[in-house]
Amino acid sequence: MKGIILAGGLGSRLAPMTHVTNKHLLPVYDRPMIHFPIEQLVGAGIEEILIVTGGNAAGDFLRLLGNGRDFGLRHLNYTYQDGEGGIAEALGLAEYFADEGPVCVILGDNIFENPIRPAVDAYRADPTGAMVLLKEVDDPERFGVARFEADGSEGAATGELGQRVSTGVGARIAEIIEKPADPPSRFAVTGCYLYDARVFEIIRGLSPSARGELEITDVNNRYLGWGELRHHVVDGWWTDAGTIPSLHRASRLVAAQRTSTENA
Ligand code: G1P
Repeated sequence: MKGIILAGGLGSRLAPMTHVTNKHLLPVYDRPMIHFPIEQLVGAGIEEILIVTGGNAAGDFLRLLGNGRDFGLRHLNYTYQDGEGGIAEALGLAEYFADEGPVCVILGDNIFENPIRPAVDAYRADPTGAMVLLKEVDDPERFGVARFEADGSEGAATGELGQRVSTGVGARIAEIIEKPADPPSRFAVTGCYLYDARVFEIIRGLSPSARGELEITDVNNRYLGWGELRHHVVDGWWTDAGTIPSLHRASRLVAAQRTSTENA
């Protein structure tokens, strides 16, 4: 399986820092943000990696990462996204790289406490359809949110359904809603996705959303409509780092993790 890191966009929610650099080059505690998704993919046994970036600091990725020797890689691949067409558009640029095979896609501003490897291995065992990684959060309205097939209870996926969601046994996603004002559950769809080659066909058929972007949530809902979307609930904390509060939070979480590792 190949890996794709989406690290484009203008990072406008992190202005003014992003007036002079790319969001994914900003520090998260002790290293540039882009290091985290690369480490995750390498840790999941993925060594063929494409970074999709954009903006005027794109050359700095090459200066920082080169061929990925710091991560034990022999080679890194890069491609360039013009403008801000959204996550799904950026992924569409990776079709040549995927070369008809399954892919693990990770957003460059997503940081996971624990390895994503268990989810990647589960997908590898049956690399068809799509898989999303979920995490229960306190602020689901900021993300894509899973609504589960009803169990008779209203609102959030709690109690017995929450149990089934967490274990992945017997809970099925009914719909994913992008940034819902009234979230149907607290399970956010994180920025790590596994897809088969049909993802590129789906992207070609998408229309821009109200924010003028091709939405990854529309891609996932298409797989859902085919009955081919699986989910995996991640252990440990997860955060994005694309806003001032979440970048700060990411740095605090990583700092605490480093300290606990040092003291172990
Ligand atoms: C994107 C996706 C959203 C997902 C989030 C994870 O949001 O659209 O579904 O939950 O990444 O970080 P964005 O960062 O574009 O607001």
